[in-house]
Amino acid sequence: MTFKKRILCIGAGYVGGPTMAVIADKCPDVRVELVDINAERIAAWNSDDLPIYEPGLDEVVKRNRGKNLFFTTETDKGITESDIIFVSVNTPTKTFGQGAGLAADLQYWEKTARQILRASTSDKIVVEKSTLPVRTAEAMDRILNSNGSGPHFEVLSNPEFLAEGTAIEDLLDPDRVLIGGMNTDTGQKALDSLEDVYAAWVPRDRIIRTNVWSSELAKLVANAFLAQRVSSINAVSALCERTSADVNEVAHAIGRDSRIGSKFLKSSVGFGGSCFKKDILNLVYICRQHGLPEVADYWEQVVRMNEYQQDRFVGRMISEMFNTVAGKRIAVFGFAFKADTGDTRESPAIRVCRHLLEERAEVCITDPKALKNARYDLGQDTPGVTYEPDPYKAAEGAHAVAIMTEWSDFKSLDYKRIHDTMAKPAFIFDGRNILDHDKLFDLGFNVYPIGKAARTHH
Ligand code: UDX
Ligand code: UDX
Repeated sequence: MTFKKRILCIGAGYVGGPTMAVIADKCPDVRVELVDINAERIAAWNSDDLPIYEPGLDEVVKRNRGKNLFFTTETDKGITESDIIFVSVNTPTKTFGQGAGLAADLQYWEKTARQILRASTSDKIVVEKSTLPVRTAEAMDRILNSNGSGPHFEVLSNPEFLAEGTAIEDLLDPDRVLIGGMNTDTGQKALDSLEDVYAAWVPRDRIIRTNVWSSELAKLVANAFLAQRVSSINAVSALCERTSADVNEVAHAIGRDSRIGSKFLKSSVGFGGSCFKKDILNLVYICRQHGLPEVADYWEQVVRMNEYQQDRFVGRMISEMFNTVAGKRIAVFGFAFKADTGDTRESPAIRVCRHLLEERAEVCITDPKALKNARYDLGQDTPGVTYEPDPYKAAEGAHAVAIMTEWSDFKSLDYKRIHDTMAKPAFIFDGRNILDHDKLFDLGFNVYPIGKAARTHH
């Protein structure tokens, strides 16, 4: 079959994988190829056991793989043969040198740009899918178009707003698709070409076109606003615990104001995920670089409040359990940063578990999808940690259960059975407010929700 367009995506991760699978599904006349430097990951994409868990992803991949969706490690060949190249390599926070701990590490991005330049024999549209600091597209444009008479490269920004766990839904029915390009003839033509890809299933009035810098910045700002809402309601939860107000009631009451809106107001042990912290710190760094320390401090506080919430959660566990958890078994229910994903990047469970281990607790972790990653994060043989797929077994002999992830599996467990096998007094710390706290109290538990008065038997 001859294809109308050929798309390559460099970086077959959480973003690249699902995004390209949906493009292939919706555009049968477009050939979509994903490449990655990680050969094991590509082999997994070609197997029955995909490298990431995402509801609905299996079907979309299996329906299109081998038809117009391909996973390979042949990056140079892929570059040479494609018209549009998405770059979705990771851009972690820099761990060294200037901007360490704040700025985005752009080495993979720049390396990829130079590889595109080397392997290209015809004009290309290069699309930033990775979240990048504002003005990166411009730098990439300079690198790519540094060879004067060679092929022409048009750099677009097309940030991805999908959330993990709902990636396929978000891709199929996005609130908006954002694409930014240069205000030149070639820039506008490239925007048309990318818009046409999405228009195969997204109504055109949901496709927003901006200049390239607005698009880059809008992605960072969207994540900063979302994280800010979580930190705001978590700040309120601390006050609720001191005043007997109930954070769920407060959230419901304010969320009914249509100017505020009801989404993203769930108080929790803290936000995690690969993007929020990284993107806010990146925003903070950019503000400082542009001589705006007050603006930087304002956003940085969103991250600090998130750390405070996690530390406050563990602090409360320790103080309520008679100021010591040394030698006590603690069942940690959930390690993923949110439900319906196996991803544990920046999961609050990591910080909470590390803190419990410093206090010499015996931590037993259970999670329906994230045990493999939990082992990687905390270590397979780290003293004090065990991993147990069965939550009932994890809770056997435990002094406390700590809910870290809002998996629906945890809501339907038989808590009487769990209580019966636990050490007494038995404690539950519900870091996601997903359980029926009155019922747990009646079963004999001492119950500590987030942002509500505790229910205790002493
Ligand atoms: C990544 C970025 O981290 C994020 O900033 C952006 O918003 C979207 O892309 P994600 O897909 O979650 O997010 O990252 P990850 O799952 O780590 O995937 C990146 C992939 O790129 C990895 O599979 C990695 O092996 C690959 N990669 C990295 C390359 O193929 N080439 C490189 O040079 C570097
Ligand atoms: C986020 C953005 O939502 C998405 O648009 C962007 O592309 C990537 O970053 P993601 O990190 O996958 O997506 O998950 P999200 O659903 O936003 O949750 C982030 C964290 O906030 C999770 O740990 C979640 O549990 C927490 N959260 C979210 C709350 O604690 N309370 C809420 O009300 C909402």
